[in-house]
Order: sequence, then C-alpha cells, then structure tokens
Amino acid sequence: METMFERSQKVMPPVARRATTMGVVKGEGSYLYSETGEKILDFASGVAVCNVGHNHPQVVAAAQKQLADLIHGGHNVVYYESYVKLAETLVEISGGNTMVYFSNSGAEANDGAMKLAKYVTKRPAIISFKGSFHGRTIGSMAITASNAKYRQGYEGMVPSVYFAEYPYLYRTSYKAAEGVCPSRYFEQFDELFDLIIDPYSVAAIIMEPIQGEGGYIVPPKEFVKYVREVCDKYGILLIFDEVQTAFGRTGYMFASEYFEVEPDIRTLAKGIASGFPLSVVMAKKEIMEKWEPGSHGGTFGGNPVSCAAALATIDVLQTTGINNAKKMGIYFKKRLIELQAKYECIGDVRGVGLMLAIELVHEGKKPAADLTNSLIKQALEHNLLLLSCGMYKNVIRFIAPTTVCQEEIDHAIEILDELLAKMS
Ligand SMILES: Cc1ncc(COP(=O)(O)O)c(C=O)c1O
Repeated sequence: METMFERSQKVMPPVARRATTMGVVKGEGSYLYSETGEKILDFASGVAVCNVGHNHPQVVAAAQKQLADLIHGGHNVVYYESYVKLAETLVEISGGNTMVYFSNSGAEANDGAMKLAKYVTKRPAIISFKGSFHGRTIGSMAITASNAKYRQGYEGMVPSVYFAEYPYLYRTSYKAAEGVCPSRYFEQFDELFDLIIDPYSVAAIIMEPIQGEGGYIVPPKEFVKYVREVCDKYGILLIFDEVQTAFGRTGYMFASEYFEVEPDIRTLAKGIASGFPLSVVMAKKEIMEKWEPGSHGGTFGGNPVSCAAALATIDVLQTTGINNAKKMGIYFKKRLIELQAKYECIGDVRGVGLMLAIELVHEGKKPAADLTNSLIKQALEHNLLLLSCGMYKNVIRFIAPTTVCQEEIDHAIEILDELLAKMS
C-alpha cells in the first residue's frame, strides 16, 4: 500500500516537503502513532505547538463542547464567549495592562505587530536581528534573517528594515571575558543610528527573546534589558516575537518573565491552542487603544474552537505544565550536559526550560550539519522524533511537551547515547 508521503508527492508541490516522510494517524501525550504502526516519542511537538502534549483530554473536551455550540461567528461580525474569555485571560496573565487582537498564524501576528507599531508611532523603519525567523508572509519574511533561502526569489520586500547582531556567544568573534556579553553588541545601536538610520524614524525593534529557527540561541539577560533601554531612549516600540517561546516552553508563560523585560507589543501563536490555528497581537493598553477601527482585520481570527482550546491549554499550563516544564527542563539539560562530557561533537548545550538544544561540531567548532542530519535520521529509526535548527543547520532542538516525564527524557537520552557512541 502507498504511504501518505508517496500519495502526497503526486498532488503536492516540492515546497510542501517536510522534515520527515512519516504519516501519522494518532497523537497522545508525548507520542505520535505512525501509519505503519510505530509509537514515536515526539520531541518536536509539531514545532513547539503541542505544549501540553498531543490531544490533552482537557483540550479535546473544551474543543468538542465548543464545536457543538458554535464553529464560526466571525469576529468582524459578532462576539462570543470563548473569544472574550480568552482575551480577558490573556490580559490577566500578562499583568493586566494589555489588550489583545486575534489572528491565525505567527506570521500574521508579526505582520499585525509591525502594522500596529508603524500606525501608532507614524515612523517607517523596523530593526530586526540577524538569525531571526518571523514567518513566511511578505511582511514577516522581510524581517527574517536566518536563511537566505527563505528570501530567495522574493527580494524587493518591505522597505526600511535593518538588521542588528544578536549575541550568539558560542560563535561570536568579538572578545570579552568568559560569561560577559561583548560590548560590540551594545555599541552596535549607536553605530546603526549614527551611520544608517535615524532612531526617530524607527517604529519598532522586533526580537525573539530566544532565537528559535536561528539555533535556540539564548542572549544574555543584560543584552535584552539594553534593547529595552534603547527603545525607551528613542521612543521605539519593543516587539517580542514570542511565537515559539511562550506558553510554558521556557518554564514560564512568557519568556519575557525569564528576562525580566516587558515588551510594548508581543506576538503569540504556536503553543497557545494546542494545534488549533490561533495567534495574538498583544500590546500595552495605551498602544492598542490607538489602533482604530478599520486599521487591521481578518475573517478567521479568534475562531471559537481555537479560543476554547486555548483556554483549556492555559489552564493545564497554569495547574501543572509550567511547573513540570521548569523541573523537567533542569533535568533534561543536566542529562544533555552529561552527554556533552562524553562526546566531543556536542559543542554546546543551551536553552531555558524545555526549549533546549545541542550544537554539533567537528574539530575547531566547524558546524556539523552532516552529523546533525544523520543523528536525527537515525533517532527516528529508533522512534524518537527530533528537529534541527540553526543558521548552520547543525543544532538539534528538543521540544518536549511540558507534560513530559523523567522516563521519557531518559529514553531519549539513551537513544542518543547509543547512536553517538556508534557514530564516534
Ligand atoms: C519565532 C517565530 N515567529 C514566527 C513564526 C511563524 O509562525 P507561523 O508559522 O505560525 O506563521 C515562527 C514559526 O516557526 C517562529 O518560530
């Protein structure tokens, strides 16, 4: 019998080709079940979406109840309970002084955030960071700089976008004492404003508090705080793209809590609704209040079922998920560091909470994309699903659900240990 992959090849373009050729028929907790009958330990979580595991019973029940009551009302047309309740909940968990606007995808939310920043400041320019990934729409692609391939064939995008350097300290060429963020990362803003773009023409600086696709790069806290200071100095709005980092991924509801930095605008998607499409532009109340009727919109934003699933997801995170992510994140990282001590090819272990990664290298820190590919492929043959990331495609990220248990982490480590032993 033909597999789903083989069937899809006849009807879908190459652009739809993805990380694996596996067809799946069911998901439950930390596991996916394949069409060929395999039980796969899923540490990809649909790319950081199923943060409370696959088909969490509370999420399923909430979605089913909403399905029976109302599938679509249209937020341009009417109000409905799950939509309003989710807005109230998001405002509450973000400190009470925010407002939210619902869309469908991370890219759409980032487009919305940029529109909001431009609209409110009446300034044209956006500063983003090298290594960043913000999505695939024309707008979000224009601020993305983690892979030239994403932009290839589409140049001539949104104008007035500038890129600053993100402190990727494992690979930095700037000198500084161990554990200190090189001064160049701070000074670059003065240079940018002196030589290239007037700071008072900049609407927003958009940053991932931890870079996702770029390689699970955690910047020093003092750098993130400094970016906040730069924004305050020139009246620039700070946008945190928390599409990948929020909803328990880092052991916090929002990664901003880890960095102790509040953005003016925050974008959310992926983990919010456990797989139902939903995204959010969240901003300080005084900013959102200036976004006038007609300035932004969309038919499907804030779908009733997605909102109901999001409310259940947030409840699971608040009652158990976030605490477990903190605890299991510490344990998982410790086990990865033990592996690093055994295998020279693991150049770096990094991450916060359950947003963890290893960077694979050859001698002299040369990026080992070949090893990365091979390890991921072999891991899947042992029923462990992992994804790569990184500007040099040599990082393996571990995106376990916040509901993961120690035995599942141990099992993944055992597989990696066995494969690395064979490879070295
Ligand atoms: C940080 C970040 N922003 C934006 C996006 C785009 O989200 P979406 O694919 O839902 O448009 C992604 C997706 O990987 C992401 O990781």
